[in-house]
Amino acid sequence: MVSVAIMGHGVVGSGVSEILTTHKNKLFNSLGEEIYIKYILDLRDFPNHPLKDRFTKNFDDILNDREIRVVVEVMGGIHPAYEYVKACLASGKSVVTSNKELVATNGAELLQIAKDNNANFLFEASVGGGIPIIRPINQCLVANNVSEIAGILNGTTNFILTKMIEDGMDFKDALKLAQELGYAERNPEADIEGHDACRKICILASLAFGKHIYPNAVLTQGITNITLKDVEYARIWGGVIKLIGSVKKLPNKKIDIIVAPMFIPIKSQLANIDDVFNGIMVRGDCTGDVVFYGKGAGKLPTASAVVADIVDSIKHLKTRKYLYWVDSDNSSVLDYKESVTAMYIRANTEDKDLAYNKAKELFGDIHILDNTGSESQKGEIAFVIEPMKYADIAAKIAVLENENICVQSQIRIGDL
Ligand code: HSE
Repeated sequence: MVSVAIMGHGVVGSGVSEILTTHKNKLFNSLGEEIYIKYILDLRDFPNHPLKDRFTKNFDDILNDREIRVVVEVMGGIHPAYEYVKACLASGKSVVTSNKELVATNGAELLQIAKDNNANFLFEASVGGGIPIIRPINQCLVANNVSEIAGILNGTTNFILTKMIEDGMDFKDALKLAQELGYAERNPEADIEGHDACRKICILASLAFGKHIYPNAVLTQGITNITLKDVEYARIWGGVIKLIGSVKKLPNKKIDIIVAPMFIPIKSQLANIDDVFNGIMVRGDCTGDVVFYGKGAGKLPTASAVVADIVDSIKHLKTRKYLYWVDSDNSSVLDYKESVTAMYIRANTEDKDLAYNKAKELFGDIHILDNTGSESQKGEIAFVIEPMKYADIAAKIAVLENENICVQSQIRIGDL
């Protein structure tokens, strides 16, 4: 029997204790040992819970108990999760977490502490919820030089965009529904402003390229400015709008990384990933593109990934799994202004012909998105430009604005 402790009894934590209870026999057959939940740490009281005798409010109960070799951190947030995880790893206990904020912010340091203490620090659930992605990149695709990873990494925003695209639903109502279904973060700003997706693409980039990429180095745009007009222009262009986290290693070794809403062509595999589902494409030099798809949020999908890490930790109590990246100063990250992209641009104008001519003069070949039949599109133009450096796009947009052609929306075109 192996005793474990679970820190946090929220959506994911309660899912972990549920799976460990309901799948006890299945897990015993896989592991050859019983997993016993000795402690559940939470500041709240759960007097009617079937495991009520296991609850504690005191972290030291876990830290000082030598029987506990694996600790699960599903509290979320940085404090006190960081201090608790650090203390557990420093005392040689392995830690499993779903906490993407913690891994994206402190991953390099915690991996080093785990290494120094011959412990494991595993975080499969931190990216993609129930989708296996950390282990596949770290193990199954290890023979590849990965050149690019791109994906829909946030279930809440994908759910909201799907409701806007398919049902014409209001942004606020769709967000409320996502919160009720337990997809959104406690503070949904992290979802809708792109920070959650940013943390996840940083974790994947760090893992794939071996150096910690910190979220503060990544241009991060959310979906709060996306309108139903943009959704309609994306349809006319031949695609949909998705919030994409993307990282590429350029031939000059710079890391081109971004989180932003993008137009995705309807034939792309990522265009058809809807609702709370996530999809992640990994481009390897041996495999070509490999796409991972599944539920990226929610209680049981996320808890399923946590439980898999618990089992793996128990199987590796004596040997450290090689899961590691070094710290870095972000100097390998490309300045987003140097990044090359095609772009959709929508602008208000009193003279459409003049505005189109000016856009052609500035951007060269443009693809006009014609929605003249629509009453609501009067007095505006929309077009897609060929790829160019973002710094050049911004300079040309400034010229348009000087001509009273007021840009309302600019959305990158995803090359996916
Ligand atoms: N809020 C996150 C999402 C939860 O919507 O994807 C899973 O990380």
